[in-house]
This record gives sequence, C-alpha cells and structure tokens, in this order.
Amino acid sequence: MAPVTHKPLLATVLGQRQERPPIWIMRQAGRYLPEYRQTRAQTGGFLELCYTPELAVEVTLQPLRRFDLDAAILFSDILVIPDALGQSVRFATGEGPLLEPLDEKGIDSLDRDRAMSHLAPVFETLRRLRAALPAEKTLIGFCGAPWTVATYMLGGRGSPDQWTARRFALEHPEAFDKLIDILVDTSIDYLAGQFEAGADVVQLFESWALNLDDASFARQVMEPNRRIVEGLRQRVPDAPVIGFPRGAAGNLRRFSEATGVNALGIDFATPIEFVNAHLPPELAVQGNLDPLRLVVGGEAMERQARAIIQGFANRPHIFNLGHGIVPETPIAHVERLVELVKRG
Ligand code: CP3
Repeated sequence: MAPVTHKPLLATVLGQRQERPPIWIMRQAGRYLPEYRQTRAQTGGFLELCYTPELAVEVTLQPLRRFDLDAAILFSDILVIPDALGQSVRFATGEGPLLEPLDEKGIDSLDRDRAMSHLAPVFETLRRLRAALPAEKTLIGFCGAPWTVATYMLGGRGSPDQWTARRFALEHPEAFDKLIDILVDTSIDYLAGQFEAGADVVQLFESWALNLDDASFARQVMEPNRRIVEGLRQRVPDAPVIGFPRGAAGNLRRFSEATGVNALGIDFATPIEFVNAHLPPELAVQGNLDPLRLVVGGEAMERQARAIIQGFANRPHIFNLGHGIVPETPIAHVERLVELVKRG
C-alpha cells in the first residue's frame, strides 16, 4: 500500500504499521521539564498559559527540542471547556484543579454561545504550531471526553472514585443528560475548530472510564464518545481520532466498535495479550508503559518497553505511556526510552 501520509505517527493512526513504532508521550509538555517550570513561573496562572498563544506554542515545542518525538500535542487542558462554558475553574498550586461544583441550576446556566470565542486563542496556538512544525511531525489536538470532564464539573475536583458525579448521574438523570449533551456539542465544535486550525489528529481523553458498571459505561462513556466521533466526522470527513478510555478493561472492544475511533489508547494495566486476543489486528493501538517505569528507568523500564514493542509488532502501534508522565520523571530516562523505541 502506498503511504497515505509522510507523517509516520498519523499514518499509524490511519492503520499503517511502521517498521519501528512512532512515539509521543502523554502530558509530554509539563513539570518534569525545567524549561516548562520556568515558563510557568513567569506566567500568572495555568489557564493564562493555555490562552496565550505565544507561550502555549513555546511550551508545546519544548519536549520536541529535547527528544526525537513524532508528534507535538497542543498545550492546553481538558478543563478549558468548563471554563469556556462559564464555570469557575482554578488551578491551585500543588492541589490540582478546583471548580465551583455544578448543581442542576448550574447546568442550566452554562453558556454555549460564548464558548468558541473564549477558546479562540487555542485555535491561534494551533495555527502557529502548524506553521512551526517540520512536515514529518504530527500535530495532535485533544479534548476531555464528556464523562471525564463531567466528573470534575460535578465533583469540583479530582477524586479517586468519581463518587459525586456517579451519584449525580443516577439521581438526576435528566440534568445529567443535559450536561452531557452540552459537553458533546461543545466538544464537536471545539475539535472541528482544532482540525480547521491545523490539527492532524485528535485524542479524546476519557481518563475516568473505570469504576462504572455495564449500563453506566454504555451511557456515560461509550455513547458520548460515539456521538462526538460521529458529529465531528459530519463536519470534518474522516477526521482521525484516538480514543483513550482509561480503565475500560473488558469493555475495550465494545468501546472501539461503538465509537469508530481509528486508534485506541491502552492503559498500563491492560495486558498486551488481552489486547491482541480481543482487538482486530488492523486496529491501531497506542501505549502502554507504566509511567512509574519511566521514573525508575534502567531494566525496569527497558524490559517492559521491549515487551510492548515486541507484543504489538504485528499491528499498527504508537508507543506511549499508559497514562501521563509524572513530574518526578528524570529527563535522562525519557532520552533513553525514545532512543530505545527508535533504535533498540
Ligand atoms: O500532554 C501535553 O503535554 C498537553 C497538555 C495537557 C495538560 N493536561 C497540561 C497540564 C493535556 C493533554 C492534559 C490532559 C488532562 N488534564 C487530563 C487527561 C489526561 C490524564 O492525565 O488523565 C486531565 C484529567 C486533566 C485535568 C488536570 N489538569 C489535572 C488533574 C491537573 C493537575 C494535576 C496534574 O496532573 O498536573 C491539571 C493541570 C495540568 N494540565 C498541568 C499541565 C502541564 C500542570 C499544571 C501546572 O503547571 O501547574
């Protein structure tokens, strides 16, 4: 088959296996980089960094200056959507995101009309990145999937079990569905805008696809992801999408069939053999090194990285972590990992 694109990572998303897997790292721009911490310290707040194209471009490109990565991922956050809808969102140092938790009335007061103009700086960041990136690098856009974003909007902060949002979904089904509808529609607008501004592919981060029974998984995870992929492709035909339902476990195959994503992000708790036994061999997968192995480095990292490359050698595979890189990660370990993936 003739190459569909000269970008190896995008080609892999589209189903073309490469000789060696292309690589990017979830959350590759961030606090493990001293240059990120420096830019961050010079900026007022985290959201200001996301909404200032000059700084967001700089921070997006920082990891590509150090490492031979195949993609840049837009520097932004999944919580810019609640912010754009008018909910109060703050990032307190050392505490993670803090939102004014939504109740039923709060859902009614979300304002979709202002959202895209609020997010205009993000589109400008993408246009600048498109112009700055070498032709062989893939530009990844993203948003949070509705359920994951809703867990923060309803709970007001991250939580280990998403209790508040799970309870709200069962107790207030109509209000919950209204919130999901708003998030689906806003995400479609946002992702279509990202493609128009130059993104090659987008990833839907469903970081909290775990802790749900079958019916809740179908309603809260699969259906909103499916509607976004469908709605997006009505606006951007054949838009390439990476799904990342972290913790979906036994529901991975159902998720991939229901949503029609091109590639599936695999978390690090999912066995390689399980993926190969349950997902069609032509489906691209992305992952799935434990970020902790990248912190520890050495054999703990290299053995598993090789097992992943070997395990996915017969299918389109994008090397990545199975969740985001953490601030404790030594830069030398990232250098070694990229070297190992590229050259063995
Ligand atoms: O990958 C990249 O380099 C692009 C930027 C990016 C950020 N957040 C920047 C960020 C991406 C893709 C995200 C996604 C994101 N944000 C997710 C999904 C992925 C995942 O890890 O599960 C989630 C759940 C969030 C919400 C969020 N934003 C949290 C929970 C936190 C605080 C804790 C943490 O992990 O850092 C953030 C803040 C945030 N987003 C930072 C960065 C670089 C650190 C903020 C700072 O500099 O103070």
